[in-house]
Amino acid sequence: MSLPQSFMDELRARIGLAALIGRRVRLQRKGREHQGLCPFHNEKTPSFTVNEDKGFYHCFGCGAHGDAISFVMETEGLSFPDAVERLAAEAGLEVPKPSPEAAAAAARQASLLEVVEAAAAAFEGALASPEGREARAYLEDRGLRDETIAAFRLGYAPEGRGFLAQRLGAEGISSEQMIEAGLAKRDEGSGLLREYFFGRVTFPIADRRGRIVGFGGRRMGEGGPKYLNSPDGPLFHKGQLLYNLGRAGAALRKGETRLLLVEGYMDVIALAQAGIAAAVAPLGTAVTEAQLESAWRLVDEPTLCLDGDEAGRRAASRLVERALPILKPGKSLGCVFLPEGEDPDSLLRKQGRQGLDGAFEREQPLAELVWQRAFGAERPRTPERWAALKSLLLGEAGRIGDAGVQESYRAYLLDRYYAARRQGRTAPAASRDRGPQRRPLARKPHPDGQRQRQERELMALLLNHPAQISAREEEIALHDLQSSQLDRLKSATIDCIAACPELDREALQRQLSSLGYAALVDQVLSSAVYALCAAARPEAPEDQAGRMLETLLAIFAKGRAVHAVEEAEARLAADPNEQNLACLTAAKGDLEAAERRIEALAAA
Ligand code: UTP
Ligand code: MN
Repeated sequence: MSLPQSFMDELRARIGLAALIGRRVRLQRKGREHQGLCPFHNEKTPSFTVNEDKGFYHCFGCGAHGDAISFVMETEGLSFPDAVERLAAEAGLEVPKPSPEAAAAAARQASLLEVVEAAAAAFEGALASPEGREARAYLEDRGLRDETIAAFRLGYAPEGRGFLAQRLGAEGISSEQMIEAGLAKRDEGSGLLREYFFGRVTFPIADRRGRIVGFGGRRMGEGGPKYLNSPDGPLFHKGQLLYNLGRAGAALRKGETRLLLVEGYMDVIALAQAGIAAAVAPLGTAVTEAQLESAWRLVDEPTLCLDGDEAGRRAASRLVERALPILKPGKSLGCVFLPEGEDPDSLLRKQGRQGLDGAFEREQPLAELVWQRAFGAERPRTPERWAALKSLLLGEAGRIGDAGVQESYRAYLLDRYYAARRQGRTAPAASRDRGPQRRPLARKPHPDGQRQRQERELMALLLNHPAQISAREEEIALHDLQSSQLDRLKSATIDCIAACPELDREALQRQLSSLGYAALVDQVLSSAVYALCAAARPEAPEDQAGRMLETLLAIFAKGRAVHAVEEAEARLAADPNEQNLACLTAAKGDLEAAERRIEALAAA
């Protein structure tokens, strides 16, 4: 069975070797390699190593050696074709059918590549020739140096028609081949051969392996579209290719750490000239899923560079839509908004590297963009709008395909949501607009033994009776604990339950432990706490736990109300106006309500 090299490369790239082997062998990371007990012979100390980068495993004990495919063949007793089939299915790839037609297609593709390569050379030659004078002047005017032009193999498709037919014809290339290679088409009426590119600067576009598969062409003067691309065909697939991908990959392997995703060819080239080689651009369309996947094969978080204007914001919005469904653990995007109206090319010309580096410092993670997009420009002013925001956020998280990433987005977005609600909670909306009159009031940090005890009881209740959380999630989330340690544990607990409301006690505590809260959980679930609060014990009946939780929340609500009254009194004393008086009256009303709530619970 002979499969195309490109398919095998793709398959190996998609299958994480350590993850594959890790399902059978407990592996430990040791520098660039993973180590474990060899599955092919009996041993007590590990001599089996997996090298993810090189894509092979090796056992120093028994000499077993191979790649992902041989590992599956060996461990599952499969033939080569069956192992390939299985891995391909897992990687979401189709195994190409090796048929005579496919072989013929491969041969034809090879010859088409030669046709396109010949065209690239012809365009390069034309740029250097006397008829390329205007094009050279144009490129020089745009600040490109000779070595940059040579490195990107820029060229010129001369005015008028027949240039390519003549040049390629002399090399024995037929009109049909030119048509198939996307360089020309047959005119419907006259039946004459018409070239795609004429009177344009040409930008050869290569595939991942650096083979030229098509062109972009920019007009120099007025008239016609600014850029043209080769039509999609056997070689060229606009939505799959990224301009400069091969070179960007090489630059990353040489130590560049950031992969930039920019909008245009000229941006990529200007960046390269400024010393940033790891940049790619889509070909005149919005970034597609296939292009994101390509970028993710090179780095975990490519950086998208957008114009800081309205169009850039819209582009970012489209990208969020596209990226959410296909996010994977560890794979995301960063976003950089350039100053209004600038692309990397123009920014570099105006401000040099500094301008660009300044923008990079303000890079935002995708999750932040999702939050901002939902939160909008204005803080919600009514409970209904807060509720709408919450369901919008949960809806955004729900669009993420990967369950793990979805869960962490939900937790992240809810954190932001509750933080936003807590902000300025004590100040009624109306007084927020009168900023200058407000005197910031330091919150008195009174170390209060009773309060601390109650906070510990609350946490013990939540950890042992997670079923009681969902119904009171809002109030629990909105209440800050004095102990910052416990407050973090509380947020993490709410996040876990928000992401998965069915979590039981064991699962919740396990999850919190895996998040690094093991010691704190143990500390909270102590006999000292249980001695004071029997309802928090794991074996306490749920209704008793629920009542206790209600009581604690009511006590906390009263504490907040007392604090709000104190604040309002101080503000009124400092600035006796009607507004501040209204605030105090409202705060007193809240306090009375909190007291009634406690009385009602005690009576029940
Ligand atoms: P822009 O219009 O932002 O232009 O197109 P640019 O990249 O800044 O180009 P210059 O600096 O004026 O030369 C961004 C990308 O959109 C595609 C091209 O791929 C271009 O690089 N495009 C643009 C087209 O395909 N057709 C067009 O008519 C315009
Ligand atoms: Mn530009």
